Amino acid sequence: MKIFLDTAHIPDIKEAVDWGILDGVTTNPSLIAKEGRPFDDIVKEICSLVDGPVSLEVVSEDFRGMISEARKLAAIHKNVIVKVPMTPEGLKAARALKQDEIRTNVTLVFSPNQALLAAKAGAYIVSPFIGRLDDQGHVGMDIIRQIVTIYNNYGFNTNVLVASTRHPVHVLEAALAGAQICTLPYEVLKKMFQHRLTDVGLRSFIEDWKKVPEEMRPF
Ligand code: E4P
Repeated sequence: MKIFLDTAHIPDIKEAVDWGILDGVTTNPSLIAKEGRPFDDIVKEICSLVDGPVSLEVVSEDFRGMISEARKLAAIHKNVIVKVPMTPEGLKAARALKQDEIRTNVTLVFSPNQALLAAKAGAYIVSPFIGRLDDQGHVGMDIIRQIVTIYNNYGFNTNVLVASTRHPVHVLEAALAGAQICTLPYEVLKKMFQHRLTDVGLRSFIEDWKKVPEEMRPF
């Protein structure tokens, strides 16, 4: 499963790139707004750091506006994937952009039927929002399992990107469900490293090593 960061915050992206495990980045208008910097600067920096897909979202709600924004976004860098909303206009745009060989990520997906439509429209990625469903008392991960089954049943090659993740169990369940991608906030990614037994084990190895006489150590 590919791991993306769901952020526009450059220091967090740099750190994840240094860890060597980052496959891509997703952004949305809210994440960009939080940075308080010009859009172009943020995006160019992200694309120069990340060797993988970078999702950037259109803000127009009509077909023509989406197409015009999508072309501008796609021209920024070859790795840009254009996010369009899960609306009739958004799907119309996804279909037209596919013909122009611009890859799309259909976002704000909350049901398997929406994901089916997104795949039929030719989306490269579909983004079901798990945490926001959990917040409403649903089991968000259920729709991931259903979408993966539907796509397998009919041979759709749209990638399932598990979005709106809130904790490491979401990542685990996404991987078990067979999703191709999971996007996470930086804090969730950091938590994936943590295990008390790793820390305890490392401390005891380091302490035991000190008992080896210096002349017997290779370094
Ligand atoms: C996905 O691409 C979205 O940016 C994101 O996962 C939304 O998550 P949120 O529900 O935490 O805002």
